[in-house]
Amino acid sequence: MENPFNYLQFATGDQFYDRREIRKDLRSRFLSGQTNVVLYGPRRYGKSSLVAELVGDLEKAGIPCVTLDIVKVPSIDMFVTAYATKVYRRLAPVKFELKKLGTFLKSLRPKVTLDQTGEAGLSFEPSDAHIGSEALTEVLDLPQKLLSGKGRAVVVFDEFQEAKDLLPNDGFERIMRSAIQSHRNVSYIFLGSRYLILRRMFTDHNRPFYKSAVTMLLDKPPVEESVRFVVERFSSAGKSIDRESAERLVAKIENIPYFVQQLGFETFRIVDDSRRKSVLPSDVDSAYANLSGFNRDQYEQLMLSLSVSQKKLLIALARERTCEFGDGYRKRHVLGVSSTVNSAKAKLMEDGLIELSGGQYVVADPFFAQFLRTT
Ligand SMILES: Nc1ncnc2c1ncn2[C@@H]1O[C@H](COP(=O)(O)OP(=O)(O)OP(=O)(O)O)[C@@H](O)[C@H]1O
Ligand SMILES: [Mg+2]
Repeated sequence: MENPFNYLQFATGDQFYDRREIRKDLRSRFLSGQTNVVLYGPRRYGKSSLVAELVGDLEKAGIPCVTLDIVKVPSIDMFVTAYATKVYRRLAPVKFELKKLGTFLKSLRPKVTLDQTGEAGLSFEPSDAHIGSEALTEVLDLPQKLLSGKGRAVVVFDEFQEAKDLLPNDGFERIMRSAIQSHRNVSYIFLGSRYLILRRMFTDHNRPFYKSAVTMLLDKPPVEESVRFVVERFSSAGKSIDRESAERLVAKIENIPYFVQQLGFETFRIVDDSRRKSVLPSDVDSAYANLSGFNRDQYEQLMLSLSVSQKKLLIALARERTCEFGDGYRKRHVLGVSSTVNSAKAKLMEDGLIELSGGQYVVADPFFAQFLRTT
């Protein structure tokens, strides 16, 4: 029986649940005119999945979208060629005169490439070894120019916090900010997994992107929605899980969508392997134990890369979550002075290893928390 859970790809269609309000809000913002949005939130809450669904909604409504994941273009020339290629392929009108391209993109050379199916398409390469600010501006202006004042398009930059490393001294951000400011027909959505770094790019008044986008937070879905999703997924594959076990499943992994899918997947696998139709309460526990075991190596490696004060803080938080690190808490967990704790906390937050959940600091990955509790 095919497993109805999937934690490896972005959730779409039947595998996507909740997010109705924010999805509707985003859709109507992008349909009603030019707007820029930065979507942030802790890791694995489902930002990329939500935006992939939104892109589907917008495309259906006739708004072409271009998505670029900045992690996949780690240098400025890779960014420029990949972005020009994607923008051209999605936004160039059907009868576009190629010679016009020369006026839009002086620093790139088009070339014809064949994809795996043998279909020909246009892509770009730098015509000069050096990609400077002019070339970058030209490429960033390409969507607006291709639309030539008509219609609208949406551009999605995922893992946008990585853009700060493409040019030194905020260079990329400065050039991009000034280019996109004049784009009347193109809206932008920025998202990324290192959300404190991303948020700083938009809220720090010294940074070029300060106040250039509406900031939206993606929180966890309501517990009830996650529970309903688990019940529905099992039943879609001809198996049943009682409400209590579904609630237990969701609670064990702190109601984080990625882990809902992962623990759902493993629980389903166990039930299916033993050729049963319904889930026993112990299946959820066995699945949880399996998953805790799978990641052991990775967690051990991770611990080796951390400082002593970071490790101590992680272990403390795995045992006792807290909203502040007062004297009592620091003494109980032998954490030392508050300046040490604060700098360890800042680094762990930045790296996404701890998060604020319901106003309390917690270890972000519930399996890592379990690992920390048992060593
Ligand atoms: N609305 C949803 N419905 C069902 N599953 C979801 C949903 N959102 C996320 N997931 C699950 O969580 C996984 C991670 O989601 P996604 O990659 O969208 O999160 P993210 O917030 O972009 O994470 P990161 O911060 O690591 O980039 C998905 O592959 C999917 O399995
Ligand atoms: Mg993501």
